[in-house]
Amino acid sequence: MPDDSIFDQYPLDQWKDPDHRIMDRFSLKGKKGFVTGGAGGLGRNVAAAWAEAGADVAIVDLPRTRETLEPLAAELSERYGVNVVPLYCDVSDREQVDMLKTSLIERLGTVDVAFINAGVNVPGDDADEPYEVWQKTIDINLTGAYLTARIAQHIMREHGHGGSLVFTSSLSAHNANFIGGGPSPVAAYGASKAGIYEYARYLAAALAPYGIRSNTVSPGYVWSGIFEGRIVPEAHDMMTAPVPMRRFGTNEEIAAAVLFLASDASSYVTGTNLQVDGGYSVY
Ligand SMILES: NC(=O)c1ccc[n+]([C@@H]2O[C@H](COP(=O)([O-])OP(=O)(O)OC[C@H]3O[C@@H](n4cnc5c(N)ncnc54)[C@H](O)[C@@H]3O)[C@@H](O)[C@H]2O)c1
Repeated sequence: MPDDSIFDQYPLDQWKDPDHRIMDRFSLKGKKGFVTGGAGGLGRNVAAAWAEAGADVAIVDLPRTRETLEPLAAELSERYGVNVVPLYCDVSDREQVDMLKTSLIERLGTVDVAFINAGVNVPGDDADEPYEVWQKTIDINLTGAYLTARIAQHIMREHGHGGSLVFTSSLSAHNANFIGGGPSPVAAYGASKAGIYEYARYLAAALAPYGIRSNTVSPGYVWSGIFEGRIVPEAHDMMTAPVPMRRFGTNEEIAAAVLFLASDASSYVTGTNLQVDGGYSVY
């Protein structure tokens, strides 16, 4: 008789177990995670989503965000009954990221989920962007993603468990985000986000044997707070004209996608990119 026990890993009807709930897959109960760019619009909403889902969370950002991070961590801890801690780190600084690894282990014990999200977006409509702007954008967005994902996967592998890495890419990774006369980001921005997209796919292949998944979310235009006071209603209309849904996205719409990718709801999803862009990418 051939041994067909290999097929036992594929249950056909899990819902038939009276205690089984598919919604439990979206829970992060007992998990530990960190969010970079945690004081920003997307970061703080993902931190809130993960805390509500039951995870202990480290919110990581630059020291200048202390006045945002300290009360945010206290509010999320209190509201959701989990441990939310602020940690300060420049993600483009290798030594600071190494120290972040130590702090994460001290404050959370381990890391199961990481939202690699810190980023800068320098406006510019000129293809001849200054070298300093190019270098800063690549250092923070791309090298920062590499450094912080690296400590996350090191912790997961050293502690002998799997996990989920979720990176913030962008519509700018897949489309030329050039709005002539409008608030375009510099070309380095799209280059950095395309780099993140491919880096995450490589990690998906390389880390699958360790039970670590790696995916990107690519937001379209999101009313995250960064546009507030920076664009006029005409610019809003111009930016949303190529969006089939004719509006910006919200922070929570991105947070829901990131919760899906972090949680076991996406346990067979790795190396993929989830566009959350109101349909921008269909054209
Ligand atoms: N809002 C959008 O429309 C949109 C669209 C696509 C992608 N994104 C990406 O989403 C991410 C979050 O954007 P957001 O809209 O929340 O912007 P945001 O400016 O509100 O948040 C970015 C956060 O990153 C932090 N940060 C910047 N440099 C850092 C560094 N060196 N080290 C640590 N932290 C640093 C900032 O302090 C800030 O809190 C960014 O990577 C951005 O490129 C945003």
